[in-house]
Amino acid sequence: MSYLLGIDIGTSGTKTLLFNSYNRKVVASSSSEYALYQPHIGWAEQQPDDWWRATVTTIKDVIDKSGINGESIKGIGLTGQMHGMVLLDKQGKVLRPSIIWCDQRTSEECEEITSKVGKDELINITANPSMTNFTATKVLWIKKHQPEIFERVHKILLPKDFIRFKLTGEFATEVSDASGTQFLDVPNRKWSKTILERLDIPLEWMPNLYESQEISGYVTSEVAKLTGLKEGTPVVGGAGDQAAGAIGNGIVKPGIVSSTIGTSGVVFAYTDELSIDPKGRVHTFCHAMPNAWHVMGVTQGAGLSLQWFRDNFAGAEKDLANFLGIDPYELMTKQAEKSNPGCNGLIYLPYLMGERSPHLDPYARGVFFGISAKHTRNDMIRSVMEGVAYSLRDSLEIIAEMGIDISHIRASGGGARSSLWRQIQGDIFKTPIHTISIEEGPAFGAALLAGVGIGIYNDVPQACEAVINIEDTIEPIQENVIIYDKYYEIYKDLYRSLKDHYIQIAKIEGSLFHD
Ligand code: XUL
Repeated sequence: MSYLLGIDIGTSGTKTLLFNSYNRKVVASSSSEYALYQPHIGWAEQQPDDWWRATVTTIKDVIDKSGINGESIKGIGLTGQMHGMVLLDKQGKVLRPSIIWCDQRTSEECEEITSKVGKDELINITANPSMTNFTATKVLWIKKHQPEIFERVHKILLPKDFIRFKLTGEFATEVSDASGTQFLDVPNRKWSKTILERLDIPLEWMPNLYESQEISGYVTSEVAKLTGLKEGTPVVGGAGDQAAGAIGNGIVKPGIVSSTIGTSGVVFAYTDELSIDPKGRVHTFCHAMPNAWHVMGVTQGAGLSLQWFRDNFAGAEKDLANFLGIDPYELMTKQAEKSNPGCNGLIYLPYLMGERSPHLDPYARGVFFGISAKHTRNDMIRSVMEGVAYSLRDSLEIIAEMGIDISHIRASGGGARSSLWRQIQGDIFKTPIHTISIEEGPAFGAALLAGVGIGIYNDVPQACEAVINIEDTIEPIQENVIIYDKYYEIYKDLYRSLKDHYIQIAKIEGSLFHD
């Protein structure tokens, strides 16, 4: 029997799952949480050693729960939060906490990178404009603000690649996650000497680069003793969390696009030809498959918007749900169903955490627009769901504009569990919305990549075909489509009208990162 292990180093915790490739079932999974440190407004750091502790705990836990012998685990795939910077010294010791993807301190470094490389050349080489999320900006921040640490750097790793180093002793990464560093030549899938030279970062600091399904190292004897894994178990490249999640969703051929509503919302499209938005409103990264790329739009506050509403305004639903032993979101969805498409003229802008696609604006704020005395909480809940879908439509429209086929949309993440939210997406996107039978997130995609790496599957599409089936399809309702089309135009105008006011608020609050 061949088991595959997928390990996801997420932001709130690590999730590890064990997949039985023979009967195609996830036999055990385990999660372990850790802290996020925010020493100043807009900063976000984590301790790589916390990720490692959670990895060891969850590996031991899935082996325990499943009752299998570690020897039956034939391959390991890694995935995790992208963009985070882990700095190691010559001895392989972590030099400081990792500055992670959502840290916003580096807007000056974005400008520095753009001016040193040139705006157009940066997009031509790295396929993206400079953004605070990307690793390169974080490295330059250390160079300027903590030169004593910068001097001691020997290697720069991404979060999951630090775990690979602990498991195998190898300094390695793979192309999908490396795309989010902005040190990678994305069209040619190799480190960019031009970018590294212009930013004065030595090439030797970069780890070895693999394709996602390639074996990058083997479990050491020390780790075998610590975890119960077998020494020599292969560890494949794996993928950044978005690409691995997409593999787990079967986004592996042209035309199939996913719309995932988790804390953030992501629209993810496969392309077998490189396609870059010249305005940089959506990301283009290498996909976790050879000769393929993906285009991705991100709504920062998707599920987060509904969670925020639940935690601040739905105390009664929380209590009742607790009493009934159900999820408060179920009650909130029932209330939203009592409102109408368009929420009687109420429009929500989901910019609670600024916005990435399409605005690239860290200062954008959430808005309820059009509130009148007739509106109720039912309308407000529904408008949050609709506002998130409008934002995802922004990304879909850019992707369509780039000539990418989006004929089949697959909903996933917590948001896909609500049939109302799926219907709203279908009506706002004007396409059928499909859901699939198995939804285990990025760790599952990483396990499938391990299966390809050790030869259980010939390639990623074959792995997906073997394990993924369409379970449900929702068709758009024509009369709703007409209503949403009208409101969407107003939704788009609202950002344009409010843009300058967001900056003014940031200035008053002193939260503008720099002028
Ligand atoms: C991708 C991104 C997030 C992080 C954390 O660009 O920023 O998906 O990887 O999940």
